[in-house]
Amino acid sequence: MLEVKVWRGKADGGFQRFEVPRHPSQTVLDVVTHIQRHLDPTLAYRFACRVGMCGSCAMMVNGVPRWTCRTHIDSVSKNNELTVGPLRNLPVIRDLVTDMREFFDKWARAKGEFRGRQTKEDDFAKVPPQSPPRQQVDAGIECIGCGVCYAACDVVKWNPDYLGPAALNRAWTLINDVRGKDNLERLRAVSGDAGCHACHSHVSCTERCPKHLSPTAAIAGLKRAVTKAVLEGDL
Ligand code: SF4
Ligand code: SF4
Ligand code: FES
Repeated sequence: MLEVKVWRGKADGGFQRFEVPRHPSQTVLDVVTHIQRHLDPTLAYRFACRVGMCGSCAMMVNGVPRWTCRTHIDSVSKNNELTVGPLRNLPVIRDLVTDMREFFDKWARAKGEFRGRQTKEDDFAKVPPQSPPRQQVDAGIECIGCGVCYAACDVVKWNPDYLGPAALNRAWTLINDVRGKDNLERLRAVSGDAGCHACHSHVSCTERCPKHLSPTAAIAGLKRAVTKAVLEGDL
């Protein structure tokens, strides 16, 4: 059996203990699902795809943010003990469910939506796979918006206004997309006190990202781009 402590209630809640049978290849999400289906149907948690695509199942597992559908118990549990809580740095709605609004609002603040220069009348853009900007796009485009990096970042904890690694990674991806526009506006959006220069390069985001992206490298790219724009008198 696995001894599981699960967060219940809001931010002022506490951990509740459950005993869950062990199985081969069991994931943290399997354990949480077992509790909700067999031990306490009132447990609130969030998931959708169960295969590492949707980004909705992230939680704190033994104090570390992880995607729970792809995290095996064998890799995180010593002595058959497990602690599961809601993602750090976000308001808790209930139990394991956090309010992701401020996380995605920051993507909007960082101008995280694509705006193309061409119209539907134009031919498809041809972007060589080996071109440097395309390589930068490919390095960051696989973000699934799980919030793991955001929960891992101490600067977000110290400065809740900080845009955070995922929104800045998104901004850098778009700045390198040769089909896009409004990059000066985007650089302006990520250059304030709550933007890329607030990053302390702690690398926790990069260490924890389940998609093996490097928001730290993306943020370093943004710092260089903002500095260049300032020196050239564009910002
Ligand atoms: S590298 Fe920057 S964004 Fe990433 S965890 Fe550290 S401070 Fe946060
Ligand atoms: S950068 Fe990685 S950890 Fe952060 S939201 Fe995207 S996929 Fe998740
Ligand atoms: S449930 Fe979709 S990534 Fe885990």
